Amino acid sequence: MPSAGTAAGEPLLAVEDLRVQFHTDDGVVKAADGVSFSVWPNEVVGIVGESGSGKTVSALSVLRLLPPTATVTGTVRFGGRNLLAASRQELRAIRGDRIALIFQDALTALNPLHRVGHQIAEMIRIHHDETSWKDANQRAVELLGLVGIPTPAARARQFPYEFSGGMRQRAMIAMAMANDPDVLIADEPTTALDVTIQAQVLELLKDVRRRTNSALVLITHDFGVVAGVADRVVVMYAGKVVESGTVDQVLLHPAHPYTKGLLDSMPRLEEENQRLLRIPGQPPSLIDVPPGCAFHPRCPFARTPGPCATAVPELRSVQDSNGQVAACHFTGELADVPVQAGDVQAGAGAGA
Ligand SMILES: Nc1ncnc2c1ncn2[C@@H]1O[C@H](COP(=O)(O)OP(=O)(O)OP(=O)(O)O)[C@@H](O)[C@H]1O
Ligand code: SF4
Ligand SMILES: [Mg+2]
Repeated sequence: MPSAGTAAGEPLLAVEDLRVQFHTDDGVVKAADGVSFSVWPNEVVGIVGESGSGKTVSALSVLRLLPPTATVTGTVRFGGRNLLAASRQELRAIRGDRIALIFQDALTALNPLHRVGHQIAEMIRIHHDETSWKDANQRAVELLGLVGIPTPAARARQFPYEFSGGMRQRAMIAMAMANDPDVLIADEPTTALDVTIQAQVLELLKDVRRRTNSALVLITHDFGVVAGVADRVVVMYAGKVVESGTVDQVLLHPAHPYTKGLLDSMPRLEEENQRLLRIPGQPPSLIDVPPGCAFHPRCPFARTPGPCATAVPELRSVQDSNGQVAACHFTGELADVPVQAGDVQAGAGAGA
């Protein structure tokens, strides 16, 4: 199968200045507002952010899977082309073959009217019509076995409603793996699952990556998921990237107050009787994003009056970090400030 044809030293996938707007009756939703991130061969990139921060919209834009009501600008570079300017035919050839997406909702992503094995075989046949139905069906059974579905030959003949939530998620992963993609994008692949199955699905994704050498983009609201799987992390807030860096940089030395807040709301296995902090307030509506830094109404470090409420902070390199960037006017000052119990709560509404 052809590879993405990446030149040495270039990312496999590069999203640059992605802007997605939905024109609704209530106003213009700026779902992605200048999002940029890169994915290098064989790496796992975690995209983290609260609900509504633009994670799914950004992922769907890569394969131009948004509804026609979306206005999309920017660049998505893959295999020497800009996917946002590619023809429908070029996109069809890439989707499910070179870049595969595991959708946030596995039940709606599987066709209820077709047997699970048939759907996986069809994914192979769409891209490789030289493969016979017999071989494609055989491969589908193999794939279901690979993702840990017991008695895969019998299960392949069943319909999606006959699968549990965890099994549907595995079937989606099997379908995404069907053509050994260069990039696998998994949108909240574990959210709907119980904790034990979540851990199994994450192990499976790590295993898939090792086996196929594909890059994995893992979208989640859960830093715990990222900590166990990702090499690099991209943190999103209100349609923008607010911080990115290696998993160690971002988790051990977060440079953006939002990242610090998310980390403080994450349970730590080693600590008993810990008090979990919640970032106060809610993420903003993307129709009416606060001026300046969109996080300022919730930020315990916000300086208002001052630039926080008036000037949009650009992504800047974090000092001495070798690649970590954060969009905060005071990144340099905050880089080593731990968020202590109470800090985030105490700052509720600061500057709002
Ligand atoms: N078809 C659409 N029409 C209008 N607005 C939309 C549409 N799809 C998404 N949005 C809006 O775009 C914003 C970003 O949504 P998105 O689904 O990307 O968030 P998310 O980060 O994936 O959240 P979650 O963690 O809940 O999945 C939200 O404000 C959402 O309401
Ligand atoms: S720019 Fe200001 S409001 Fe925004 S994260 Fe930094 S300190 Fe907080
Ligand atoms: Mg989503």
